[in-house]
Amino acid sequence: MRQTLVAGNWKLNGSKDSIQTLVKGIADGMSAVNGTAVAICPPYVYIPMVQNLLTGTTIGLGAQDVTDQESGAYTGEVSASMLKDIGCQYVIVGHSERRALYGERDEDTAKKYAATRKEGLIPILCVGELLEERENGDTENVVARQLDAVIALEGVAALADGVIAYEPVWAIGTGKTATPDQAQEVHAFIRGKIAALDADVADKVQILYGGSVNGGNAAELFAMDDIDGGLIGGASLKADDFLAICTA
Ligand code: 13P
Repeated sequence: MRQTLVAGNWKLNGSKDSIQTLVKGIADGMSAVNGTAVAICPPYVYIPMVQNLLTGTTIGLGAQDVTDQESGAYTGEVSASMLKDIGCQYVIVGHSERRALYGERDEDTAKKYAATRKEGLIPILCVGELLEERENGDTENVVARQLDAVIALEGVAALADGVIAYEPVWAIGTGKTATPDQAQEVHAFIRGKIAALDADVADKVQILYGGSVNGGNAAELFAMDDIDGGLIGGASLKADDFLAICTA
C-alpha cells in the first residue's frame, strides 16, 4: 500500500495573523487524521514562522518553488539547500502557475526537480494539461512530455524520490473538478508510463490529484486506485476545509 499524502499549497496568500490561526486550527484537528501524511507549503517568508508553529505536530513543511542554482548571483532566488536548512521536507516544482505566468519550461522544472532531490528533499512534480489541450485529445501527450523532461535529466528511478501531482489546469481554482474517472484515467496513464520503464518505481510513486478538491469531493477522488492523495489550493486556506480533505 502506498502512503497517502495531502499537501496544502497556499500560493500567494496569508499574513502573520491569518497563518497563526490557520496553522493552529489544522494542528488542533490532526488527531482526527489517520493514515495520511499531511504537509503545508506557505510562501517562502512565512516558512520559519510556520515551522515554529508546527513544532510537536506531524505536519510536514514545504515550499512552493525553488531555483535550480546552488548559490551565487541569482537575485531573488531561494535554493534547495536553504529550504533544507530551514527545515522544509517538500518542494513543489513545475506548478502550472509557474509554467503559465513565469515561463517555466519543462527543462527548467526538471532542473528544479534535480536540485531538490540532490538536497534530499521531496519534490512534488506538478503535471497537467490546459483545457484546450484536453479538448484536442492531447492530455496524455502533454503529461508524458512533462514527465519525460525529468526522466531524461534524472532517470526514471529518480521519480521514486518524489511525488507527482496531476493538476489539470482547467480544474485549478475554477471549482471545476475532474471527475474521479477522468482523474483516475490520467493517473493510470502516468503510472503505466512509468511502469513501462520501471515497474517498481511505478508501484511506489505517490500520484496526487489537484484541482478544486474540497471536503465534498475528496473522498470519491481518493478512493480511486491510482490517486494517492491531493495537492490542495483554495481549500487549504481554511482549517476546517483542509481537515475535511485530510480525513477523507
Ligand atoms: P485549487 O485547489 O484552488 O483548485 O488549486 C489547486 C492547486 O493549484 C494546488 O497546487
